[in-house]
Amino acid sequence: MPFCKQLGHLFHIAGIRPTITTYYESYHLSLQQLGAARGSCSDGSVVPVLLSGPRERVSDRRRGRALTRASRWARSGKTNMSQTHPTHSRREFLTLATAGGSALGLANLVDLAAEPGGPPEGTSQQKRVFGLRAPPMEKVRIGIIGVGGRGSGLLGNLLDIEGVELKAICDLAPDRVSRAQDRVVAKGHPKPVGYSHGDTDFENLCRRDDIDLVYIATPWDWHVPMAVRAMKNGKHAATEVPAAMTIKECWELVDTAEMTQRHCMMLENCCYGETELLVLSMERQGVFGELVHGEAGYLHEARDFTMEGSADTNWRRRFVTQLNGNLYPTHGLGPVAQYMGINGGDKFDYLVSMSSLELGLSRRRDTLPPDDPRRREKYACGDINTSLLKSALGRTIMIQFSLAMPRPYSRINAISGTRGTFCDYPPRVHVDGQAEGWETDLQPYREKYGHPLWKQLGERAEKSGGHGGMDYLMNWRLIYCLRHGLPLDMTVYDAAAWSSVVPLSIESVSKGSAPVVVPDFTRGEWRDQKPIGIVTV
Ligand SMILES: NC(=O)c1ccc[n+]([C@@H]2O[C@H](COP(=O)([O-])OP(=O)(O)OC[C@H]3O[C@@H](n4cnc5c(N)ncnc54)[C@H](O)[C@@H]3O)[C@@H](O)[C@H]2O)c1
Repeated sequence: MPFCKQLGHLFHIAGIRPTITTYYESYHLSLQQLGAARGSCSDGSVVPVLLSGPRERVSDRRRGRALTRASRWARSGKTNMSQTHPTHSRREFLTLATAGGSALGLANLVDLAAEPGGPPEGTSQQKRVFGLRAPPMEKVRIGIIGVGGRGSGLLGNLLDIEGVELKAICDLAPDRVSRAQDRVVAKGHPKPVGYSHGDTDFENLCRRDDIDLVYIATPWDWHVPMAVRAMKNGKHAATEVPAAMTIKECWELVDTAEMTQRHCMMLENCCYGETELLVLSMERQGVFGELVHGEAGYLHEARDFTMEGSADTNWRRRFVTQLNGNLYPTHGLGPVAQYMGINGGDKFDYLVSMSSLELGLSRRRDTLPPDDPRRREKYACGDINTSLLKSALGRTIMIQFSLAMPRPYSRINAISGTRGTFCDYPPRVHVDGQAEGWETDLQPYREKYGHPLWKQLGERAEKSGGHGGMDYLMNWRLIYCLRHGLPLDMTVYDAAAWSSVVPLSIESVSKGSAPVVVPDFTRGEWRDQKPIGIVTV
């Protein structure tokens, strides 16, 4: 029996009636994506990608109407948000929502996460940005937005890299801007211009005509407005993780990069870890055979950090207070997606997600003095979220996320194929023919397969620092590619696909772990692209 029919049969037995209504009507599924979903079934039937929502069968007429409406809406370039609030930008909407007053006096992030993306057919002015080469530049002139914890670290790396000029620095906090300016001057460079006049002053930075690249290290919901503004002003954008929080935002990044022909790279530093690059190199040289399964995670005990301060000042808590899903998937997923050649010969197809109950933060909250305002908080995010992705070629990836459990740090970082398996934390390997158990001495593998970037630059990377050197290497490679007019290692399609796990996991969790389709941000081009190779300098 063909797979789709078998699945349908099982659903029938379980009393579940698969329907794709919600997909049409929430506009997550474009006509092309629908085509792709159909194509993936051997019997030509539509994959029952979403099991929740209305349980009645959808008439073809109703489907047709929804699709027409979706297409018209996409062509109009309008977003659902602008339809609902025609005179307000998303940022203004956030402010209004805050003024309206939710439990914490914050915008309703649940609504934002569920905000539907359009069925993006693209416009005639859009051109794919696979292999995009910008004209080489002798110096890369940079503006940084956000010099808190992360932005300060990135600044340190950038100051250690040849060919970088820091032109402008923006942060809400004037003292952070002046501290960053002082660091640049202390390194013997001219003082960058500072911007700290409110939360839209970054627009003035983006308008400058002496900047090539805008670095963004602000809270999650600022990444897209800032990256889009940078690209629309002719700059390349490099944004912190996750690049986007909603499907609509993911498409906004893709569409803007394609319209402006600018790079938009998510700064996924973990793709440059020594172990991750070793595994990539081993994979490309066939050690694991044909890949079947990967595992990724961000398991980081951060209860103290998350509970610090008020929910107004601690933006991370604002998110876990309102969203339940995998809110930080890309550190673990990025490297695994690269091993598997996601967007380069394979793609994410659909996802299911489940969150545990929440106890970690609320147990902490209960130890606070009775008059502490945090005693009134409630936390939406389960202590651990587990999501599963299925790829178009049939591979699976398990991804976990937890900030609230006492456990050692791990990004899991595992990959299995027909010839072998690698697992991290601690790093170990097992290949066909090896005696039973794990090989934990990776030195012979390092000697044979060690990635050239680490061989060439490892010492410098470790000296400059940042998560054991991976931050330096990522920044170094980005600057190198821009200076030489090379395509970047990570595209806007990677940024969108890897980040889309945030809203899709939230959606799946909210719908009883129903499968949800991952939009094809490449609009079908993943089939013709090559996965990243073993890059050298
Ligand atoms: N890749 C990594 O390893 C890594 C590590 C830590 C954080 N991050 C990411 O970096 C980003 C920042 O995290 P952080 O820990 O530095 O947070 P942070 O709160 O320490 O810093 C954020 C900074 O952004 C500024 N900011 C906020 N809104 C702004 C606006 N509208 N205009 C200008 N400045 C604004 C804040 O004033 C603050 O200084 C997040 O996206 C986070 O996920 C990545």
